Amino acid sequence: MIRATNITKSFGDLQVLRGVNLYVEKGELVSIVGKSGAGKSTLLYILGTLARPDGGDLVIDGKNVFTLRDRQLAAFRNEQIGFVFQFHHLLPEFTALENVCIPAYINKQEVASTQRRAMELLDYLGLADRATHKPNQLSGGEQQRVAVARALINQPAIVFADEPSGNLDSASSEELHRLLFKLRDDFAQTFIIVTHNEELAGLSDRRLEMIDGLLN
Ligand SMILES: Nc1ncnc2c1ncn2[C@@H]1O[C@H](COP(=O)(O)OP(=O)(O)OP(=O)(O)O)[C@@H](O)[C@H]1O
Ligand SMILES: [Mg+2]
Repeated sequence: MIRATNITKSFGDLQVLRGVNLYVEKGELVSIVGKSGAGKSTLLYILGTLARPDGGDLVIDGKNVFTLRDRQLAAFRNEQIGFVFQFHHLLPEFTALENVCIPAYINKQEVASTQRRAMELLDYLGLADRATHKPNQLSGGEQQRVAVARALINQPAIVFADEPSGNLDSASSEELHRLLFKLRDDFAQTFIIVTHNEELAGLSDRRLEMIDGLLN
């Protein structure tokens, strides 16, 4: 599903990624751990095509993504990649349902079928009765589950998450993690998750550690 080869990235004199290699199969849930400042978010942004590396290749779902022009890359990203961040980044003026639908509308999908699918996702994530709530009317755990639904609406090849439970209490974290594994099991959804949560890392299919600019 994703193959990264010899990814390098520096910020000035600081070499953050020193030739990262990563291969993840469809339906794998892989976690990345490592010290603060190790380069985990930098790597995730590159794998998610939000930033370009200094060198290296990235193939996602058969596509060599960094050969695409910016506009093609943006379209590819919207269709094939889902993101969940530590802070949900939901739009405050829109309901949960509307927030989930937005990436599909950007992808020019039809309104009725999009809303149907968004409701199915919210239901699956235990949020059916929260669909018309705005983000500030939802708990932190509920907001993160809406963010997961939004990440899934376009049926992406892969979902990247950067400390998705970093801002949640332990009960909400556990519930979120349980749902991520359920999505892997039910739909063979592929996940790459940066986390400081050792329980999540321990349960994942593979736990990788970022050390000295490399993944081990
Ligand atoms: N845009 C940037 N310009 C300059 N330096 C940067 C930039 N982005 C990140 N860095 C530096 O690169 C290093 C890696 O940062 P990164 O955010 O990837 O770490 P991280 O492993 O995600 O850490 P944390 O666990 O604290 O989130 C840090 O030293 C950071 O200061
Ligand atoms: Mg980070």
